[in-house]
Amino acid sequence: MTIRRLTTNDLPRLRQFWIDHWGGEEMVTRGNVYRPEQLEGFVVEHGEEWTGLLTFIVKDGECEVTSLDSLREGQGIGSQLIDKAIEEARIHNCRRLFLITTNDNLNALGFYQRRGFELVTLYRGAINESRKVKPGIPLIGYNNIPLRDEIELEILL
Ligand SMILES: CC(C)(COP(=O)(O)OP(=O)(O)OC[C@H]1O[C@@H](n2cnc3c(N)ncnc32)[C@H](O)[C@@H]1OP(=O)(O)O)[C@@H](O)C(=O)NCCC(=O)NCCS
Repeated sequence: MTIRRLTTNDLPRLRQFWIDHWGGEEMVTRGNVYRPEQLEGFVVEHGEEWTGLLTFIVKDGECEVTSLDSLREGQGIGSQLIDKAIEEARIHNCRRLFLITTNDNLNALGFYQRRGFELVTLYRGAINESRKVKPGIPLIGYNNIPLRDEIELEILL
């Protein structure tokens, strides 16, 4: 297993990865639309296969994780990618690392909090707005829970 930084050569594959795993080649959080070419990231590879992917953006002295996926859960891939994002945020002198997850994603809410993230804000109904920009966002999310709200978590650095 190797972990490496994404390069511009990875853009077509990154777009396809997002289409396959997130229903479109854009990520929408809090009304912001992020496209792969705007982002930096790290990929975990097992041979040719991408088994983990984290994208992020640094702006206004903050680092936002814009996507995180592990395709082999429970083997440390997600944790390693979060560690890389923390390291990167520190290198950029960011005051915090933050991310948005959704109300249905109980697994991610647990995962992040066990890694030091704290809940910051609940954006009630925000997914309804995101869905207008990205209709591919399903109505029902993980755990058979209606997908409605965005939840911001952060680690202060
Ligand atoms: C959330 C997500 C990224 C976590 O990734 P992951 O690769 O499973 O994360 P890890 O393997 O590092 O950690 C998961 C658990 O496995 C455990 N684990 C890690 N390595 C292990 C090992 N070698 N043996 C046994 N357990 C292990 C971890 O301790 C962790 O448990 P804990 O949270 O109780 O401490 C992953 O579940 C995912 O991609 N979900 C779908 C997409 C998603 O929801 N993304 C987040 C959107 S905001």
